[in-house]
Amino acid sequence: MAFATFKHEIIFKLVLSFAIFHTVIAGDADITSDFIVPPNVTNIDSNFFTFTGMRILLQAPPPTAFKVSKASLAEFPALNGQSVSFAVLQYPAGSINPRHTHPHSAELLFLLDGALEVGFVNTTNKLFTRTLPAGDMFVFPKGLVHYQFNRDAKNSAIAISAFGSANAGIISVPTTVFNTGIDDGI
Ligand SMILES: *[C@@H]1O[C@H](CO)[C@@H](O)[C@H](O)[C@H]1NC(C)=O
Ligand SMILES: *[C@@H]1O[C@H](CO)[C@@H](O)[C@H](O)[C@H]1NC(C)=O
Repeated sequence: MAFATFKHEIIFKLVLSFAIFHTVIAGDADITSDFIVPPNVTNIDSNFFTFTGMRILLQAPPPTAFKVSKASLAEFPALNGQSVSFAVLQYPAGSINPRHTHPHSAELLFLLDGALEVGFVNTTNKLFTRTLPAGDMFVFPKGLVHYQFNRDAKNSAIAISAFGSANAGIISVPTTVFNTGIDDGI
């Protein structure tokens, strides 16, 4: 009887740990159709595959605080099952995108303008940091805590980030959790 209970407990823990493991490392599931049509959409044409939500960025005045504009599953339903998404990241002078992780995807950042300090911490708490000039790319490995900081007091920076998931997800990391050598300000 006690043994059976013990066995159940072990199985339960195993199932739970696999569930957690799966949540942490999961990317997008493969799909077996060309694309996924949302239930409320009946007429599919090229409009479905077009995202116009970034047009406003070209006309809008630059933001006064760090701003992220996403083209992910929520904004662009055609990405469902395609394992890709984008974000446009705008950093006014001195602004920061504070520590966070994307549980479902790596992030490949391409700095278009300005200079940007980037960093991530691996699972054994080693900090990798670098200041990028415009034109450089940096990859934040999947699931690792990272940040970007525009240290320049006068000039803004702009980057685009590609993700290997339609829904990379975001988890903010409270500054009290890690002691990694990242500046307190960050
Ligand atoms: C389908 O539903 C989504 C989510 O409710 C909504 O954002 C979208 O505008 C709808 N699309 C159409 C064509 O009605
Ligand atoms: C984190 O980086 C350090 C330094 O390169 C390395 O020694 C360590 O093995 C890394 N940890 C993992 C889990 O990769």
